[in-house]
Amino acid sequence: MNQISAEQLIDAATAVRNRAHAPFSNFKVGAAIEDEHGRIFTGCNVENATYGLSLCAERVAIFKAISEGARKFTRVAVVADTDILTPPCGACRQILWEFCGDVELVMANLRGQSDTVRLGSLIPRAFDASFL
Ligand code: THU
Repeated sequence: MNQISAEQLIDAATAVRNRAHAPFSNFKVGAAIEDEHGRIFTGCNVENATYGLSLCAERVAIFKAISEGARKFTRVAVVADTDILTPPCGACRQILWEFCGDVELVMANLRGQSDTVRLGSLIPRAFDASFL
């Protein structure tokens, strides 16, 4: 059950996006994740001069949530300044699947457009711990 509105989660992702450290791509992303208690964990992308060590907003948000003790998640929001709504990259889909499962994923931009899908639709036949 979601305890906060999708708009609130989008607002949180939009706000944290302003803290993105993206001097190399200039592509700022914000993510916000709601847990079962209605707590919100946010993250922005943090780039590195070696490029490959950069972390996406989604992974920053989920790792913050896990390290704060949150375990069950109900919704994820991703915000970027694009006309075609920005989806999580492949690596983030895999990581989000691990911790959030088939959660609601809200993609939004700065112009009030949004779309909601299930994470599972973006990562069909996912590999996960059930195979181990
Ligand atoms: N990025 C994210 O943070 N999340 C996404 O969903 C797509 C890409 C970041 C990674 C990099 O810092 C920049 O956007 C350009 O790829």
